[in-house]
Amino acid sequence: MKNKNLISLTVAIAFFLLATTGILLYIKQKAHFIEMTHTIFGLLFISFAIFHIINNMDSIKAYSKDRKSGSIKKELVVASLITGIILVLSVTEVLEPVAEFGKIFASGGKRPSTVNFAEKKTLDSTQGHAVVLLLQKGKDATFSGVSVEVSDTTGKVLETLLAPEKEAKGPQANLLLQTKIATAAPFDLVLTFTHEGKSKKLTRRVTSLTSGVQGLGKEEGLIERAYLEIQ
Ligand code: HEM
Repeated sequence: MKNKNLISLTVAIAFFLLATTGILLYIKQKAHFIEMTHTIFGLLFISFAIFHIINNMDSIKAYSKDRKSGSIKKELVVASLITGIILVLSVTEVLEPVAEFGKIFASGGKRPSTVNFAEKKTLDSTQGHAVVLLLQKGKDATFSGVSVEVSDTTGKVLETLLAPEKEAKGPQANLLLQTKIATAAPFDLVLTFTHEGKSKKLTRRVTSLTSGVQGLGKEEGLIERAYLEIQ
């Protein structure tokens, strides 16, 4: 058995499994076993690829440098330019739409057949009006977590009704929040949508806390519908 051939075949098979699980992760199929398989084959791939590169160093040198004159070949310059430009565009996040494109294939991203609400209760404050906030997110906010605060009309935050959660993976449920508001009206409800470290804030003015249901209005892409029920 030739070691060199064994290494080449292992690299090829590991690459195939790595690429398959990588594509699944790209289209947001992030089951734990897929992430784990991807990571393990990533490590196996790297370990064997190092030996594969060492075994084929002569070819790599021949592609890069002219044997006789020792000058750098055009192919090395062009390959470095292509990867260099893509590296700069990635680090500066210009290529984010390409990296994020796969999520259009994610279930729940396009046509959710059911609407899921995560029911949360934050009744720590004993004071205040009992309220229920129902928030169905828009299509651009499928993956966003939502936090809810109360601020005065100048924007100063007075109460946190729902703190931001450690970011979870995959589509995030809509919100059915049972809580209490101690601040007297008028005030602003501040809804913060967070996904991958980026946040968008929206405010909704609440002018009275008389019992009943108030519509909080739609916001293209972020809020499909939102209601505040004052109990
Ligand atoms: C064929 C090459 C590869 C492709 C197409 C690929 C693709 C991907 C994609 C799309 C993700 C998900 C990113 C996200 O969070 O949205 C990912 C995650 C990851 N990749 Fe790769 N990758 C490749 C090679 C590697 C290699 C060589 C390693 C080395 C160990 C590696 C390690 C990881 C790890 C640790 C994660 C995070 C997994 C997690 O969420 O637990 N990948 N990869």
